[in-house]
Amino acid sequence: MKRNILLFTCFYLFSVSYAAEYIPITTNNTCLLLKVNDKKRLEQSYFGEKIRNIPETESVDLETFSAYSTFGTNHVFEAALRAVQSDGNTSTELSYVSHTSEKKGDDVFHTVISLKDDYYDLFVDIHYNAYQQDDILEQWVEIRNGQKKTVRLTGYASSDLSFNARQYYVSHFHGDWANEMHISEQQLTEGIKVIDSKLGVRAHQFTHPCFILSLNRPAQENDGTVVGATLAWPGSFRFNFEVNNSNHLRILSGANPYASEYMLETGKVLKTPELLFTYSNKGTGKMTRNFHRWARKYGIKNGNKERSILLNNWEATYFDFDETKLTRIIDDAAKMGFELFLLDDGWFGNKYPRNNDDAGLGDWQTNKSKLPNGIPYLINECKKRNIKFGIWVEPEMVNPKSELYEQHPDWVIAQPHRERTEQRNQLILDLSNPAVQEFVYNTVDQILSSNPGIEYVKWDCNRYVFNSGSSSLSADKQSHLFFDYSKNLLEIMNRVSKKYPHTTFMACSGGGGRIDYGSMKHFDEYWISDNNDPLYRIYTQWGAQYFFPTIGLASHVSVSPNHITRRSFSLKTRFDVAMAAKLGMDLQPAQMSPKEYEFSKNAIQTYKEIRKTILLGDLYRILSPYNSNRTVYMYVNEEQSEAVVFNFLIRKEIYPAPPNFVLQGIDPLKKYKLTEINKDPDNWSRFNKYEGKIFSGDYLMKVGLNFAMYDEYESLVFKLTEVK
Ligand code: DGJ
Repeated sequence: MKRNILLFTCFYLFSVSYAAEYIPITTNNTCLLLKVNDKKRLEQSYFGEKIRNIPETESVDLETFSAYSTFGTNHVFEAALRAVQSDGNTSTELSYVSHTSEKKGDDVFHTVISLKDDYYDLFVDIHYNAYQQDDILEQWVEIRNGQKKTVRLTGYASSDLSFNARQYYVSHFHGDWANEMHISEQQLTEGIKVIDSKLGVRAHQFTHPCFILSLNRPAQENDGTVVGATLAWPGSFRFNFEVNNSNHLRILSGANPYASEYMLETGKVLKTPELLFTYSNKGTGKMTRNFHRWARKYGIKNGNKERSILLNNWEATYFDFDETKLTRIIDDAAKMGFELFLLDDGWFGNKYPRNNDDAGLGDWQTNKSKLPNGIPYLINECKKRNIKFGIWVEPEMVNPKSELYEQHPDWVIAQPHRERTEQRNQLILDLSNPAVQEFVYNTVDQILSSNPGIEYVKWDCNRYVFNSGSSSLSADKQSHLFFDYSKNLLEIMNRVSKKYPHTTFMACSGGGGRIDYGSMKHFDEYWISDNNDPLYRIYTQWGAQYFFPTIGLASHVSVSPNHITRRSFSLKTRFDVAMAAKLGMDLQPAQMSPKEYEFSKNAIQTYKEIRKTILLGDLYRILSPYNSNRTVYMYVNEEQSEAVVFNFLIRKEIYPAPPNFVLQGIDPLKKYKLTEINKDPDNWSRFNKYEGKIFSGDYLMKVGLNFAMYDEYESLVFKLTEVK
């Protein structure tokens, strides 16, 4: 016992390497306690709220679970690691060798636990980063082959977490293009539930690499035990939830091993993607705030830097533009208060001009007839008006009708003797090929270096993988394609973001097809959906915000009737929904009536005044669109001196008699003045009885507010300003 007390005291002080019985991975409020048992196996003995006195856990035998299960000997459930040795042995037995822990900066502890197979030179290092303040744990695994012959890996999870509760509920996020990020929750029953993607590229189109586990009852917003987890990986992933004969739950998380066996050659290391997870005993609200706070520091590029309000020409013009049209839009954008103009798809290709989505992709030379003076001309037009310039790229793709494809038909992902399958008339470049990796990096690099003044890049990706074959991989390594594509893509993103740290990058994938913390490290913003219909957006933004921070959540006011749903919305509702995130616009100011123009200009100015609270504040969800006709959520700044509250009504209410709703996250002892923003100039405001009045935080969080909303898709936004 004494030895352990000493060991726990030492644990945080130096980088050490020793044999130990317990290895605590802790944050300010959480503890994942690992134990090396008398057979030297690594076990998970506790995961939950931080315990004060870890040695106390020694007084009785706690139930333990394998911390990284392996196939072949005495483990009869799904295993984290499955390896086939060159002699055909399909089993692995890992024993503890040593571990080290070191402090990285003020906030992060990095622990590495080294394991080795009892017979073969197969080494497994389990890494944990414990982010103290935000209670986030990050886990990944490095598998090294120290033998003379290749080992075949058929399963290589990043994490293997176990739970023992009465009941388990899992929420996940599903959808499709233009209908992303719907949350759905199910109770787990005996057996296996798999949530996965097999799409390879743009892999999150149907389901996102995130889940929420709730213990003993369905997840609640403000209480109850939940674990939120997300895989930092743009590719195919798998979460495997197995409830066994003893009602224990084991969750394996990682890159999807489906059709992805990995031949690990002598001396080579396979590093799995990171799983980020947090434990909350205050429901999903706390879970989200942990992720958002962590993400702004570590998870998303420039996570604490203010974002520019942009006008994007995509829905305004599609491919149909020229210099004159764009200059007019730039001029209008600047006058309206926008801070950045983003030129979307259609600016490149000469032999095969990009006038539609069927040609030109891959030929990244400016189209001479649309833009005779090139990109520098547009940059200059922006500069003259004191706004920034951004550009669209889709560097991983090629149209068969392109010069690139004529020159390199073997650069695309395809199976021999099979029909070539196109999606949106395009093929995917094979990133397992080093020449292609160079091409993709150079594409972005050259556009940026030859056009100084580009301050924003929208990196799109509009299809997923069929026919997963590579002409660059050998026959025995064809199954590396999915894994290598994502690994190499992240390396390219890393190179680009290192070279252009001050350029803003948006991760776009025909909407939410690529949103994960592997990519987001290199991206400042993400485009969650092509569907700008505000009603859809209420749901997609609600879903995205469980794990991803508002600072990156780009949301645009677009044309009405909406181009995808054909539904009409007031300009106010369109603005209110977009202002609940990172505001932008996808329509031409010139097509607005003078009244609309005025409203937009004022709304943009208002957003400039409150955006800090929205983008950097804490999110509190008050009423969910899934179980209430009114959606309410609010952002509170760090100092609790300002808050912005968004209200959206989904269906018409004929005789509304809503109960009071109470605010959250403000200071009970402070006094706040209430002011409606984005007021509809033509309508009497539902908020009149509160307008300009002052209330204590205590009152607002206990008595709350009550005002009716009647009309379908009606919205109302108000802010709270501290009065001293
Ligand atoms: C899909 C994106 O999501 C859109 O915003 C737009 O950039 C188009 N691609 C362009 O092809």
